[in-house]
Order: sequence, then C-alpha cells, then structure tokens
Amino acid sequence: MTEVGCSEGLTHPFSPSAPQLLNQSAVKACVALDQRCLGGFWSELQWQRELGQPQQRLCLGSFEAGGDELLGVCCGWVVADELQLMLILVDPRCRRSGLATVLLKELLGLARERGCKQATLEVGASNAAALALYSKLGFSTLGKRSRYYCNGDDALLQWLNLSIAKARTDNRPG
Ligand SMILES: CC(C)(COP(=O)(O)OP(=O)(O)OC[C@H]1O[C@@H](n2cnc3c(N)ncnc32)[C@H](O)[C@@H]1OP(=O)(O)O)[C@@H](O)C(=O)NCCC(=O)NCCS
Repeated sequence: MTEVGCSEGLTHPFSPSAPQLLNQSAVKACVALDQRCLGGFWSELQWQRELGQPQQRLCLGSFEAGGDELLGVCCGWVVADELQLMLILVDPRCRRSGLATVLLKELLGLARERGCKQATLEVGASNAAALALYSKLGFSTLGKRSRYYCNGDDALLQWLNLSIAKARTDNRPG
C-alpha cells in the first residue's frame, strides 16, 4: 500500500489509514466529509444507497488513523464490465498529499478484480484539480456534454482502459 502524508502537517498532522471498503456504518462520516468538501453533494439518503449495495457500488474510504474522521472517499458503480466513477472527495485540510491517488488506484484495482475492463467518469471542465488527477492516472477525454452542470460548466467524459493501466503499473520499477 502506498504511504500518504498530509502536506499541511504542522497545523493538521493527519495520518490517513489504508483505504478500506465502507458500509452503511460510514454514512454519517461520509455526509460530514461531503459537507466539508462540496457543501453536501449527496443527501444522507443517497449516501445510504451508495453504501448499501456492495455488489454493485464500491466505496473506499480512509479514516484518520485511530479515529473515526473520514479524510477521503472514492465511490464507483460496477456496471457490466465497466467501473463508473461517481465521486471522489478529499478533506480540504489534507489535499495534495496523494490521498486521492491512493484511493482511486485502489478502487481501479478492485474493479479490475471484479472483471471491469474500463473505467469512465464525468468531470466539470473547470475542475482543474480533478482533471489533473485523472490525467495522471491515465484517463483521456472522449467527449463533452455542453453546459451540463447547473453552474453552466461543461461535463467532460473520461475513459480509462483498465488492462492497459494495469500493464503500465506492472512495468514500473519498485
Ligand atoms: C480532486 C481531489 C479529490 C484531489 O485530491 P488530492 O488528494 O488533493 O489529490 P492528490 O494529492 O492525489 O493529487 C494527485 C494529482 O492530482 C493533481 N492535482 C490535485 N490537486 C490539484 C490542484 N489543486 N491543482 C492542480 N493539480 C492538482 C496533481 O497532478 C497531483 O499530483 P502532484 O501533487 O504530484 O502534482 C480534491 O481536490 C477534492 O476533493 N476536490 C473536491 C471534490 C471534487 O471536485 N472531486 C472530483 C469530482 S467528483
């Protein structure tokens, strides 16, 4: 497992735990993280649904080591041979420390084990942080839905071939 540490360690010395599959006992922690990140993108009911169907919906989270505060979460749906990435959130106090990278890589690996051949997602064209993260992991843009979001932002459709992504990872030294 890749080690992560927070860049703002002096004021916020967080130590995220290794990613773990979440179940409905994590609903409150997910709602709280969602509030801190996006002001509540999903309702509590949506989080309950997301965490309540472990065969189709995979949610990985990292908690503050030894505590119950959720620092990051990454959720996707397995639909036939495809992982549809739904949401990735990292606590604002703990960004640029590699946590999203660790969570997403782990989710892609899990999806591969479940037989997924590709991963897809939609991201706002102005979300530079998310776009850079996805690009770093090998996603490429396949299309665009113009003015798709309420704020007028375009949605970019992104795609990753999971067999090629695994081969690249396997070839890396160390
Ligand atoms: C997008 C998000 C999940 C990234 O989390 P993170 O833990 O900070 O990401 P990482 O530390 O793993 O960064 C991986 C790479 O992504 C890119 N990246 C991340 N944040 C970035 C930023 N603010 N600006 C530019 N590039 C960024 C960089 O390439 C980075 O690698 P580097 O640090 O070696 O340069 C986080 O910013 C977030 O929660 N945003 C709000 C929710 C959101 O928009 N989610 C995505 C849509 S659902």
